[in-house]
Amino acid sequence: MSNTARHPRKILVTSALPYANGAIHLGHLLEYIQTDIWVRFQKSRGHECHYVCADDAHGTAIMLRAEQEGIASEALIERVSRDHQTDFSRFGVAFDNYHSTHSPENRHFSELIYTRLRDKGHIATRDIEQMFDSVKGLFLADRFIKGTCPKCKTEDQYGDNCEACGATYTPAELIDPVSAISGASPEVRSSTHYFFKLPDFADFLKSWIDDDHVQPQIRNKLMEWFASGFNEWDISRDAPYFGFEIPDAPGKYFYVWLDAPIGYLASFQNLCDRQGMDFDTYWAPDSSAEVYHFIGKDIVYFHALFWPAMLHGADFRTPTAVNCHGFVTVNGAKMSKSRGTFIKAATYADHLNPEYLRYYFAAKLTSGVDDLDLNLEDFAARVNSDLVGKVVNIASRCAGFVKKLGGGRLAGHCSEPEMVARFIAAGDAIAEDFEAREFGRAMRRVMELADEANTYIAEAEPWVLAKQQGREQEVLEICSVGINLFRQLMVYLAPVVPAMAEQARAFLGLDSLDWHSRHTLLVDHEIAKFTPLMTRVERDKIDAMMAASKEDLVEEQKLKETAKGPLAADPIAEEIDFDDFAKVDLRIVRIVQAEYVEKANKLLKLTLDLGGETRTVFAGIRVAYAPEALEGRLTVMVANLAPRKMRFGVSEGMVLAAGDDEGIYLLSPDSGAEPGQRVR
Ligand code: MSP
Ligand code: ZN
Repeated sequence: MSNTARHPRKILVTSALPYANGAIHLGHLLEYIQTDIWVRFQKSRGHECHYVCADDAHGTAIMLRAEQEGIASEALIERVSRDHQTDFSRFGVAFDNYHSTHSPENRHFSELIYTRLRDKGHIATRDIEQMFDSVKGLFLADRFIKGTCPKCKTEDQYGDNCEACGATYTPAELIDPVSAISGASPEVRSSTHYFFKLPDFADFLKSWIDDDHVQPQIRNKLMEWFASGFNEWDISRDAPYFGFEIPDAPGKYFYVWLDAPIGYLASFQNLCDRQGMDFDTYWAPDSSAEVYHFIGKDIVYFHALFWPAMLHGADFRTPTAVNCHGFVTVNGAKMSKSRGTFIKAATYADHLNPEYLRYYFAAKLTSGVDDLDLNLEDFAARVNSDLVGKVVNIASRCAGFVKKLGGGRLAGHCSEPEMVARFIAAGDAIAEDFEAREFGRAMRRVMELADEANTYIAEAEPWVLAKQQGREQEVLEICSVGINLFRQLMVYLAPVVPAMAEQARAFLGLDSLDWHSRHTLLVDHEIAKFTPLMTRVERDKIDAMMAASKEDLVEEQKLKETAKGPLAADPIAEEIDFDDFAKVDLRIVRIVQAEYVEKANKLLKLTLDLGGETRTVFAGIRVAYAPEALEGRLTVMVANLAPRKMRFGVSEGMVLAAGDDEGIYLLSPDSGAEPGQRVR
């Protein structure tokens, strides 16, 4: 085996930057877990490995989302970034730096790359016609336009393809197109756009793609795109846009996908600044460091064509490899909100141990781009049988005897040196699998070893020997072998289940479970008290997680409804004339007394002073107001409403409040108004 620590590699690793307008879900996690396992493996091997990521914070979707929530884009991306980082840390995804594309470093590199490309003639400008929403004052991307399919005439189809008949078209071909944002009929407007001249890089890209920087399946896909020829890439968007303004083009902004991958550079620069590292060692054209991007198959085009071309054109090195993975399905189907299989990271972590998922993904991952099914039955069975039934079982069977017979110390010599040596040697093949991102194969090897270890213990039957006089030393030796084998397995599993490994490390009384540390045997070595390292997956926890995911959906829909504005939920009533209105006698009143009504969980009983006259009104505002908070304040009442006999007494009118399921807001007049005054 080559001693890797003697030849440390310099490795920079990234995962795709998640959009800053939504929560991390189990689909995302496949990528971050895959990358994190690979990074932890490299670090375990003694390499200098840096793992950076960031939130992808720009673009129209984020701008509109912030607007819906009534907050600034900056406030939205701040909040989402915090949520993302909490989610990642719960799953043990340990970035060395987590930054944002809305950062000074990213502005710097975006401007730098753009001006370098421009100065070399790789930027073109041209006027293009586009749908424009004149109500919102926005050019509309295809997905923000809806209309009737020109082919099958199904209504309410998005932008560029029909969900009913599968036809593809341009938004201009839609019948009766409307803006999905404002509902206005869009007009066609022309504006100048900036283009990156991708065809300038055709030869470069062809040889780059042929040079083993992408997986074979991806290479084939890229070659198909190549054969059909490619176009210049539109890299500008008109204001209003949440992003960076193009330096020499006021009112024009870099398209979010231009500055998103540049975010890899920005996050790494930020890390270099914090840790005194040299950026150019990794990014200069002649760099001997390695750079890997882990991405999903939906964003290959950006990472394997635009990105290498941009880097090359702007005098940076290109990635060593773009590592692509497939998509997560749950129980054999696309994640679905209504089936409860669209599971957010936080919802999962509220119910189940994140390391179950890390192990399950690892057990099913290959270096390919096939989709990965999270089958929840299989998930529970696999984790229970492998991690709990096989691995933890070794330690739990042996620890008690070591405690009892060795006073917590392992035997002074190893009675099965060959078997332990085989477990150590297996680390080389397992390392090759990790390196090649064949995590499933690595896990199979580890579980085969675990089976062997369990067979050894089962056949040696220490619990039988322990009942026989004078065989204590033998029992201690068997169990010490067991603990040594367990230690080897934990070295191999540590990149996958770091929290469990940390507990195992403490139990084993070791400083480290690094890859090379496995070469020293544990003899006459003290171990700590055994605590269960992992418990079984419980079926009812999975059910609870799915039920909670359906709840998430309900919450989201409520948010969407309020986001559209109260008018959407509660449309304006039928028109009335002034005489109808004048019949309603509205008056300012002072609430002199407010009390709970027994057995009525929605009502408060209000005593109102109408400027001389007193009224009793029952109001359904108990959820929103404590009685003492109301006493003394002014509000508005309908004073000529016919008295209504209720179960608790007669209500002589009503007070006015705005409200829905989300809250109740009692009206109050500006200061100066007096009880009894008419409101009109
Ligand atoms: N913001 C862009 C990436 C910019 S990188 C310069 C983006 N964001 S994303 O939030 O939509 O996705 C982030 C990553 O998660 C992508 O690599 C994407 O492929 C991956 N996944 C999102 N859903 C997924 C599944 N259901 N399954 C597996 N990976 C998935 O794209
Ligand atoms: Zn159609």
